[in-house]
Amino acid sequence: MKYLVTGGAGFIGSHLVESLLKDGHSVTVIDDFSTGSRENLSFANKKSKLDIVEGDLLNLPELEYLISRSDMVYHLAAAVGVELVVHDPVRTIMTNVHGTERVLKGAERCHTKVLIASTSEVYGKSDKAKFHEGDDLLIGPSSNCRWSYACSKLLDEFFGMAYFRAEKMPILIVRLFNTVGPRQTGRYGMVLPRFVSKALAGEPLQVYGNGKQTRCFCHVSDTVRALRGLAVCDKAVGKVFNVGSTEEISMNGLAATVIKRLKSKSVIEHVSYEKAYESGFEDMMRRLPDTKAIGNAIGWKPAHNLNQIIDSVADYFRNNKK
Ligand SMILES: NC(=O)c1ccc[n+]([C@@H]2O[C@H](COP(=O)([O-])OP(=O)(O)OC[C@H]3O[C@@H](n4cnc5c(N)ncnc54)[C@H](O)[C@@H]3O)[C@@H](O)[C@H]2O)c1
Repeated sequence: MKYLVTGGAGFIGSHLVESLLKDGHSVTVIDDFSTGSRENLSFANKKSKLDIVEGDLLNLPELEYLISRSDMVYHLAAAVGVELVVHDPVRTIMTNVHGTERVLKGAERCHTKVLIASTSEVYGKSDKAKFHEGDDLLIGPSSNCRWSYACSKLLDEFFGMAYFRAEKMPILIVRLFNTVGPRQTGRYGMVLPRFVSKALAGEPLQVYGNGKQTRCFCHVSDTVRALRGLAVCDKAVGKVFNVGSTEEISMNGLAATVIKRLKSKSVIEHVSYEKAYESGFEDMMRRLPDTKAIGNAIGWKPAHNLNQIIDSVADYFRNNKK
Protein backbone atom coordinates (compact mmCIF):
# COMPACT_ATOMS: atom_id res chain seq x y z
CA MET A 1 0.00 0.00 0.00
CA LYS A 2 0.99 3.65 -0.41
CA TYR A 3 0.85 5.70 2.76
CA LEU A 4 1.19 9.42 3.34
CA VAL A 5 2.40 10.36 6.82
CA THR A 6 2.21 14.03 7.78
CA GLY A 7 4.66 14.76 10.57
CA GLY A 8 6.48 11.57 9.57
CA ALA A 9 9.87 12.96 10.66
CA GLY A 10 8.61 13.47 14.20
CA PHE A 11 8.85 11.16 17.18
CA ILE A 12 5.77 8.96 16.65
CA GLY A 13 5.67 9.54 12.87
CA SER A 14 9.20 8.22 12.33
CA HIS A 15 8.44 4.99 14.21
CA LEU A 16 5.26 4.56 12.18
CA VAL A 17 7.17 5.14 8.92
CA GLU A 18 9.83 2.63 9.98
CA SER A 19 7.18 0.01 10.70
CA LEU A 20 5.34 0.59 7.38
CA LEU A 21 8.57 0.40 5.35
CA LYS A 22 9.62 -2.78 7.15
CA ASP A 23 6.41 -4.41 5.93
CA GLY A 24 7.14 -3.43 2.32
CA HIS A 25 4.77 -0.46 1.99
CA SER A 26 5.60 2.79 0.16
CA VAL A 27 5.60 5.91 2.31
CA THR A 28 5.59 9.62 1.55
CA VAL A 29 6.44 11.88 4.46
CA ILE A 30 5.44 15.53 4.61
CA ASP A 31 7.27 17.44 7.31
CA ASP A 32 8.55 20.98 7.85
CA PHE A 33 11.17 19.74 10.36
CA SER A 34 10.01 22.26 12.95
CA THR A 35 10.17 19.69 15.76
CA GLY A 36 11.00 16.60 13.68
CA SER A 37 14.28 15.91 11.89
CA ARG A 38 15.81 14.05 8.94
CA GLU A 39 17.92 12.20 11.48
CA ASN A 40 14.75 10.53 12.80
CA LEU A 41 14.40 8.90 9.37
CA SER A 42 18.04 7.88 9.08
CA PHE A 43 17.07 4.18 9.35
CA ALA A 44 15.94 4.44 5.69
CA ASN A 45 18.39 3.59 2.90
CA LYS A 46 18.42 3.98 -0.89
CA LYS A 47 16.32 0.84 -1.29
CA SER A 48 13.58 2.06 1.07
CA LYS A 49 10.34 3.05 -0.66
CA LEU A 50 10.39 6.42 1.06
CA ASP A 51 9.80 9.92 -0.34
CA ILE A 52 10.43 12.87 1.93
CA VAL A 53 8.69 16.12 1.04
CA GLU A 54 9.95 19.06 3.05
CA GLY A 55 7.18 21.61 3.39
CA ASP A 56 4.66 23.33 5.59
CA LEU A 57 1.22 21.71 5.55
CA LEU A 58 -0.32 25.16 5.77
CA ASN A 59 0.81 26.15 2.27
CA LEU A 60 2.22 23.08 0.49
CA PRO A 61 0.86 23.41 -3.09
CA GLU A 62 1.15 19.69 -3.94
CA LEU A 63 -0.69 18.47 -0.83
CA GLU A 64 -3.85 17.38 -2.67
CA TYR A 65 -1.79 15.65 -5.38
CA LEU A 66 0.27 13.76 -2.78
CA ILE A 67 -2.90 12.66 -1.00
CA SER A 68 -4.54 11.57 -4.27
CA ARG A 69 -1.69 9.11 -5.01
CA SER A 70 -1.90 7.57 -1.53
CA ASP A 71 -4.16 4.79 -0.29
CA MET A 72 -4.28 6.28 3.17
CA VAL A 73 -3.13 9.29 5.20
CA TYR A 74 -1.84 9.23 8.76
CA HIS A 75 -2.20 12.85 9.85
CA LEU A 76 0.29 13.35 12.69
CA ALA A 77 1.77 16.79 11.92
CA ALA A 78 0.94 19.21 14.70
CA ALA A 79 2.38 21.69 17.14
CA VAL A 80 2.92 19.35 20.11
CA GLY A 81 3.98 19.72 23.72
CA VAL A 82 2.74 21.97 26.49
CA GLU A 83 5.83 24.19 26.50
CA LEU A 84 5.60 24.86 22.77
CA VAL A 85 1.89 25.49 23.04
CA VAL A 86 2.22 27.96 25.91
CA HIS A 87 5.03 29.85 24.20
CA ASP A 88 3.64 29.87 20.66
CA PRO A 89 -0.15 29.70 20.84
CA VAL A 90 -0.77 31.27 17.40
CA ARG A 91 1.37 28.68 15.65
CA THR A 92 -0.35 25.91 17.61
CA ILE A 93 -3.82 26.92 16.52
CA MET A 94 -2.82 27.61 12.91
CA THR A 95 -0.93 24.32 12.48
CA ASN A 96 -3.44 22.14 14.23
CA VAL A 97 -6.63 23.62 12.82
CA HIS A 98 -5.70 24.88 9.35
CA GLY A 99 -3.29 21.97 8.74
CA THR A 100 -6.03 19.41 9.43
CA GLU A 101 -8.55 21.40 7.39
CA ARG A 102 -6.17 21.26 4.39
CA VAL A 103 -5.54 17.51 4.82
CA LEU A 104 -9.26 16.70 4.98
CA LYS A 105 -10.06 18.96 2.04
CA GLY A 106 -7.23 17.33 0.07
CA ALA A 107 -8.57 13.85 0.89
CA GLU A 108 -12.14 14.70 -0.15
CA ARG A 109 -11.69 14.36 -3.91
CA CYS A 110 -10.56 10.71 -3.80
CA HIS A 111 -12.30 9.83 -0.51
CA THR A 112 -8.90 8.82 0.87
CA LYS A 113 -8.89 7.28 4.34
CA VAL A 114 -7.47 9.60 7.02
CA LEU A 115 -6.43 8.70 10.56
CA ILE A 116 -6.24 11.87 12.68
CA ALA A 117 -3.93 11.87 15.71
CA SER A 118 -5.72 13.68 18.51
CA THR A 119 -4.77 13.80 22.17
CA SER A 120 -5.90 12.94 25.71
CA GLU A 121 -5.63 16.69 26.37
CA VAL A 122 -9.15 17.00 24.91
CA TYR A 123 -10.51 15.50 28.17
CA GLY A 124 -9.34 18.75 29.77
CA LYS A 125 -9.94 19.19 33.49
CA SER A 126 -12.38 16.34 33.92
CA ASP A 127 -11.75 14.61 37.27
CA LYS A 128 -13.16 11.25 36.17
CA ALA A 129 -11.03 8.29 37.24
CA LYS A 130 -10.91 6.88 33.71
CA PHE A 131 -11.52 8.75 30.48
CA HIS A 132 -13.97 7.17 28.05
CA GLU A 133 -14.32 8.28 24.42
CA GLY A 134 -18.00 9.20 24.98
CA ASP A 135 -17.35 11.43 28.00
CA ASP A 136 -18.22 15.11 28.16
CA LEU A 137 -15.09 17.24 27.83
CA LEU A 138 -14.18 19.99 30.29
CA ILE A 139 -11.88 22.60 28.79
CA GLY A 140 -10.57 25.69 30.63
CA PRO A 141 -11.04 29.33 29.62
CA SER A 142 -9.59 30.94 26.49
CA SER A 143 -7.64 33.39 28.69
CA ASN A 144 -5.39 30.42 29.55
CA CYS A 145 -3.55 29.52 26.36
CA ARG A 146 -2.72 26.02 27.63
CA TRP A 147 -6.19 25.03 26.49
CA SER A 148 -5.59 26.13 22.90
CA TYR A 149 -3.85 22.81 22.21
CA ALA A 150 -6.83 20.78 23.47
CA CYS A 151 -9.33 23.00 21.65
CA SER A 152 -7.42 22.94 18.37
CA LYS A 153 -7.22 19.15 18.48
CA LEU A 154 -10.88 18.90 19.43
CA LEU A 155 -11.80 21.02 16.43
CA ASP A 156 -9.76 18.58 14.31
CA GLU A 157 -11.93 15.79 15.69
CA PHE A 158 -15.13 17.69 14.87
CA PHE A 159 -13.79 18.38 11.35
CA GLY A 160 -13.02 14.70 10.86
CA MET A 161 -16.42 13.57 12.15
CA ALA A 162 -18.15 16.16 9.96
CA TYR A 163 -16.41 14.84 6.83
CA PHE A 164 -17.30 11.28 7.87
CA ARG A 165 -20.97 12.14 8.36
CA ALA A 166 -21.58 14.66 5.61
CA GLU A 167 -19.23 13.32 2.92
CA LYS A 168 -19.16 9.64 3.96
CA MET A 169 -15.38 9.81 4.08
CA PRO A 170 -13.42 7.04 5.85
CA ILE A 171 -12.06 9.02 8.80
CA LEU A 172 -10.97 7.71 12.20
CA ILE A 173 -9.59 9.46 15.24
CA VAL A 174 -7.15 8.30 17.89
CA ARG A 175 -6.70 10.11 21.19
CA LEU A 176 -3.11 9.42 22.14
CA PHE A 177 -2.20 9.49 25.83
CA ASN A 178 1.44 10.03 26.90
CA THR A 179 3.56 8.22 24.37
CA VAL A 180 7.27 7.72 25.02
CA GLY A 181 10.33 6.01 23.61
CA PRO A 182 13.47 6.55 21.55
CA ARG A 183 13.69 9.76 19.44
CA GLN A 184 11.38 11.75 21.72
CA THR A 185 13.02 14.96 22.74
CA GLY A 186 12.70 16.61 26.16
CA ARG A 187 13.03 20.06 24.57
CA TYR A 188 9.30 20.78 24.50
CA GLY A 189 8.48 19.75 28.05
CA MET A 190 8.03 15.97 27.60
CA VAL A 191 8.62 14.54 31.04
CA LEU A 192 10.22 11.12 30.54
CA PRO A 193 13.03 12.13 28.15
CA ARG A 194 13.72 15.09 30.44
CA PHE A 195 14.00 12.85 33.51
CA VAL A 196 16.07 10.15 31.79
CA SER A 197 18.60 12.57 30.26
CA LYS A 198 19.02 14.37 33.60
CA ALA A 199 19.37 11.09 35.50
CA LEU A 200 22.06 9.89 33.07
CA ALA A 201 23.92 13.18 33.54
CA GLY A 202 23.55 13.02 37.34
CA GLU A 203 21.70 16.36 37.34
CA PRO A 204 18.55 17.20 39.37
CA LEU A 205 15.21 15.93 38.03
CA GLN A 206 12.71 18.78 38.08
CA VAL A 207 9.20 17.73 39.09
CA TYR A 208 6.57 20.41 38.41
CA GLY A 209 4.01 21.21 41.11
CA ASN A 210 3.73 18.83 44.09
CA GLY A 211 4.46 15.80 41.88
CA LYS A 212 1.33 13.93 42.97
CA GLN A 213 -0.22 14.22 39.51
CA THR A 214 -0.28 10.85 37.74
CA ARG A 215 0.17 9.81 34.12
CA CYS A 216 0.39 6.54 32.14
CA PHE A 217 3.22 6.00 29.65
CA CYS A 218 2.85 3.92 26.52
CA HIS A 219 5.85 2.76 24.51
CA VAL A 220 5.85 4.17 20.99
CA SER A 221 6.07 0.71 19.39
CA ASP A 222 2.81 -0.22 21.15
CA THR A 223 1.26 3.02 19.91
CA VAL A 224 2.38 2.28 16.35
CA ARG A 225 0.83 -1.19 16.61
CA ALA A 226 -2.44 0.49 17.61
CA LEU A 227 -2.27 2.99 14.72
CA ARG A 228 -1.62 0.24 12.21
CA GLY A 229 -4.27 -2.10 13.59
CA LEU A 230 -6.99 0.55 13.63
CA ALA A 231 -6.11 1.71 10.12
CA VAL A 232 -7.02 -1.67 8.64
CA CYS A 233 -10.07 -2.29 10.84
CA ASP A 234 -13.28 -1.47 8.92
CA LYS A 235 -15.27 -1.19 12.16
CA ALA A 236 -12.97 1.64 13.32
CA VAL A 237 -14.09 4.11 10.63
CA GLY A 238 -16.11 7.05 11.98
CA LYS A 239 -15.02 6.32 15.56
CA VAL A 240 -12.75 7.76 18.23
CA PHE A 241 -10.28 5.57 20.16
CA ASN A 242 -8.20 6.13 23.26
CA VAL A 243 -4.66 4.76 22.84
CA GLY A 244 -2.55 4.60 25.97
CA SER A 245 -1.19 2.57 28.82
CA THR A 246 -3.20 2.01 32.00
CA GLU A 247 -0.11 1.66 34.26
CA GLU A 248 -0.51 4.80 36.36
CA ILE A 249 2.37 6.55 38.17
CA SER A 250 2.81 9.92 39.91
CA MET A 251 5.51 12.31 38.73
CA ASN A 252 7.27 11.87 42.10
CA GLY A 253 7.08 8.10 41.58
CA LEU A 254 8.32 8.40 38.00
CA ALA A 255 11.32 10.52 39.02
CA ALA A 256 12.21 8.07 41.80
CA THR A 257 11.79 5.05 39.50
CA VAL A 258 14.01 6.60 36.81
CA ILE A 259 16.73 7.39 39.39
CA LYS A 260 16.61 3.87 40.83
CA ARG A 261 16.43 2.08 37.49
CA LEU A 262 19.40 4.02 36.08
CA LYS A 263 21.34 3.85 39.37
CA SER A 264 21.70 7.64 39.17
CA LYS A 265 23.00 10.04 41.83
CA SER A 266 20.44 12.69 40.76
CA VAL A 267 18.17 14.31 43.31
CA ILE A 268 14.53 15.39 42.86
CA GLU A 269 13.75 19.11 42.82
CA HIS A 270 10.22 20.55 42.91
CA VAL A 271 9.53 23.54 40.66
CA SER A 272 6.28 25.55 40.67
CA TYR A 273 4.08 25.48 37.57
CA GLU A 274 4.41 29.27 37.41
CA LYS A 275 8.17 28.98 37.07
CA ALA A 276 7.98 26.03 34.66
CA TYR A 277 5.24 27.44 32.39
CA GLU A 278 3.31 30.62 33.17
CA SER A 279 1.23 32.07 35.98
CA GLY A 280 -2.19 30.45 36.29
CA PHE A 281 -1.05 27.24 34.53
CA GLU A 282 -3.54 24.43 35.19
CA ASP A 283 -2.53 20.78 35.28
CA MET A 284 -4.65 17.63 35.51
CA MET A 285 -4.19 15.34 38.51
CA ARG A 286 -4.82 12.15 36.54
CA ARG A 287 -5.02 11.03 32.95
CA LEU A 288 -6.00 7.39 32.73
CA PRO A 289 -7.52 5.99 29.52
CA ASP A 290 -10.40 3.57 29.22
CA THR A 291 -9.07 1.31 26.45
CA LYS A 292 -12.04 -1.05 26.07
CA ALA A 293 -12.96 0.38 22.65
CA ILE A 294 -9.61 -0.37 21.02
CA GLY A 295 -9.42 -3.68 22.88
CA ASN A 296 -12.79 -4.72 21.43
CA ALA A 297 -11.96 -3.43 17.93
CA ILE A 298 -8.50 -4.99 17.42
CA GLY A 299 -7.60 -6.76 20.68
CA TRP A 300 -4.87 -4.21 21.40
CA LYS A 301 -3.10 -3.74 24.70
CA PRO A 302 0.38 -2.36 25.46
CA ALA A 303 3.21 -4.87 25.69
CA HIS A 304 5.89 -2.74 27.43
CA ASN A 305 6.01 -2.00 31.16
CA LEU A 306 7.57 1.13 32.68
CA ASN A 307 11.00 -0.39 33.38
CA GLN A 308 11.31 -1.58 29.77
CA ILE A 309 10.30 1.90 28.62
CA ILE A 310 12.89 3.62 30.83
CA ASP A 311 15.58 1.23 29.55
CA SER A 312 14.74 1.91 25.91
CA VAL A 313 14.78 5.70 26.39
CA ALA A 314 18.06 5.49 28.33
CA ASP A 315 19.65 3.33 25.60
CA TYR A 316 18.60 5.91 23.04
CA PHE A 317 20.24 8.75 24.99
CA ARG A 318 23.41 6.73 25.59
CA ASN A 319 23.70 5.96 21.85
CA ASN A 320 22.89 9.53 20.74
CA LYS A 321 24.93 11.58 23.19
CA LYS A 322 24.82 14.82 21.16
N1 LIG B 1 3.88 12.23 21.99
C1 LIG B 1 2.76 12.19 22.69
O1 LIG B 1 2.77 11.81 23.87
C2 LIG B 1 1.44 12.60 22.07
C3 LIG B 1 0.32 12.61 22.91
C4 LIG B 1 -0.89 12.98 22.36
C5 LIG B 1 -1.00 13.27 21.02
N2 LIG B 1 0.10 13.25 20.23
C6 LIG B 1 -0.09 13.59 18.80
O2 LIG B 1 0.69 12.73 17.99
C7 LIG B 1 1.16 13.42 16.84
C8 LIG B 1 2.67 13.26 16.73
O3 LIG B 1 3.28 13.80 17.90
P1 LIG B 1 4.83 13.60 18.25
O4 LIG B 1 4.92 13.36 19.70
O5 LIG B 1 5.45 12.64 17.31
O6 LIG B 1 5.38 15.08 18.03
P2 LIG B 1 6.53 15.62 17.06
O7 LIG B 1 6.63 17.09 17.35
O8 LIG B 1 7.75 14.81 17.18
O9 LIG B 1 5.88 15.39 15.63
C9 LIG B 1 5.15 16.36 14.92
C10 LIG B 1 5.75 16.47 13.54
O10 LIG B 1 4.98 17.39 12.77
C11 LIG B 1 5.88 18.25 12.05
N3 LIG B 1 5.16 19.50 11.78
C12 LIG B 1 4.72 20.42 12.67
N4 LIG B 1 4.08 21.42 12.04
C13 LIG B 1 4.11 21.12 10.71
C14 LIG B 1 3.62 21.77 9.54
N5 LIG B 1 2.96 22.95 9.61
N6 LIG B 1 3.84 21.20 8.33
C15 LIG B 1 4.50 20.01 8.25
N7 LIG B 1 4.99 19.35 9.31
C16 LIG B 1 4.80 19.89 10.54
C17 LIG B 1 7.07 18.41 13.00
O11 LIG B 1 8.26 18.83 12.36
C18 LIG B 1 7.19 17.01 13.56
O12 LIG B 1 8.01 16.19 12.76
C19 LIG B 1 0.70 14.88 17.02
O13 LIG B 1 -0.46 15.08 16.25
C20 LIG B 1 0.38 14.99 18.49
O14 LIG B 1 -0.61 15.96 18.76
C21 LIG B 1 1.33 12.93 20.72
